[in-house]
Amino acid sequence: MSGRFITFEGTEGSGKTTQIGRLAARLGEAGWCTRVLREPGTTPIGEEIRHTLKHSPSNHAMTPETELLLMNASRAQLVREIIRPALAAGEIILSDRFYDSTTAYQGYGRGLDLGLVQKVIDFAVGDTRPHLTIYLKVSPEVSAARLASRQAKLPFIRDRIEVADQQFFARAARGFEAVAAAEPQRVRVLEASGTADEVGAQVWELVQSVLPPR
Ligand code: TMP
Repeated sequence: MSGRFITFEGTEGSGKTTQIGRLAARLGEAGWCTRVLREPGTTPIGEEIRHTLKHSPSNHAMTPETELLLMNASRAQLVREIIRPALAAGEIILSDRFYDSTTAYQGYGRGLDLGLVQKVIDFAVGDTRPHLTIYLKVSPEVSAARLASRQAKLPFIRDRIEVADQQFFARAARGFEAVAAAEPQRVRVLEASGTADEVGAQVWELVQSVLPPR
């Protein structure tokens, strides 16, 4: 039995988490065994790495190289501890980010060598690749506005990555565009500035095309 691995990508505030929640509920209602993951994180080891990457008070001096390796350490654990067994059990896996975020943020955003970034990703995931990636595309203005409103609701939680400047996020957005252009079969681009219902309808259509036969 083989499940399906679906990843969601996009810049801050693109609506990934909302869409994944809605999709998981819809798949569950339709009788699919569904599992939601987030990157970095999900496993106990991954969540500790996530804290180090984002919120730890001692993470100020983190270099781009360290960031690349920590993202992929969390990923290597997730692939082996959860993704491979869940796929073997026939589950539908929905992941809030996966390796395209590394290409976008550490490659394009931080400016690390793209060939090296790819080698680290390949080492972390082996042959575990998404069947479908949905890139939720929003304009830089929408992304910045949604991020600011989220930060206003959680003013005491510092996030090392989210405090980067707008040029960093613009480079990351270009990275997602490049990934989508390079792999159009796997990476599907959805214009995500509309309402959650509008985007959700398009997500559902894409996902139905990759569900296994029952
Ligand atoms: P989020 O779960 O709120 O999206 O936070 C994850 C942050 O980590 C987000 O700013 C994007 C960033 N990130 C990377 O820089 N590289 C990666 O490989 C992944 C998975 C996330």
